[in-house]
Amino acid sequence: MENVFLTDLKVHFGKGGKLVAVESKKTIPFAIKRIYYIYDVEFGRRRGLHSHKKLNQVLICVNGSLKVCVKSPTETKDIVLDSPNKGLFIGNAVWREMYDFSEGAVLLVLASEFYDPDDYIHSYDQYEKYAIDYFGNNYNRK
Ligand code: TYD
Repeated sequence: MENVFLTDLKVHFGKGGKLVAVESKKTIPFAIKRIYYIYDVEFGRRRGLHSHKKLNQVLICVNGSLKVCVKSPTETKDIVLDSPNKGLFIGNAVWREMYDFSEGAVLLVLASEFYDPDDYIHSYDQYEKYAIDYFGNNYNRK
């Protein structure tokens, strides 16, 4: 799917535990400007439900599990994040919804930009128009 991919992050074993390191512009394909994490999500709650005009992000579920539904005007995918060694890249112009948070789930998000409420698209209708315009010819080719 355009602007979405799942990667296996390298796990360093040893000393009786595991370690994953992520590096700006190396493991993560952009310079990390912001880090936030979502936790203690109430049972049944859905988060996200928006897209971004500019922001790129990598999502890592560092504890527990959750699902992410990513949508473009032509595709929908549901991705399970159930391991701290999975990194889900979600680029700009992709609609995302996070759901099925397990008890104790912690979602770490690495972001390419500082927080900017004006970068959000909260309405799916507006998103669709934006994405068709943004991806343009890529969609026409399908
Ligand atoms: P929101 O974007 O609604 O969370 P989600 O996408 O997971 O549903 O953010 C929740 C609140 O946190 C909202 O009041 C904005 C605030 N917030 C920040 O102040 N800085 C940030 O970097 C983010 C992501 C959110």
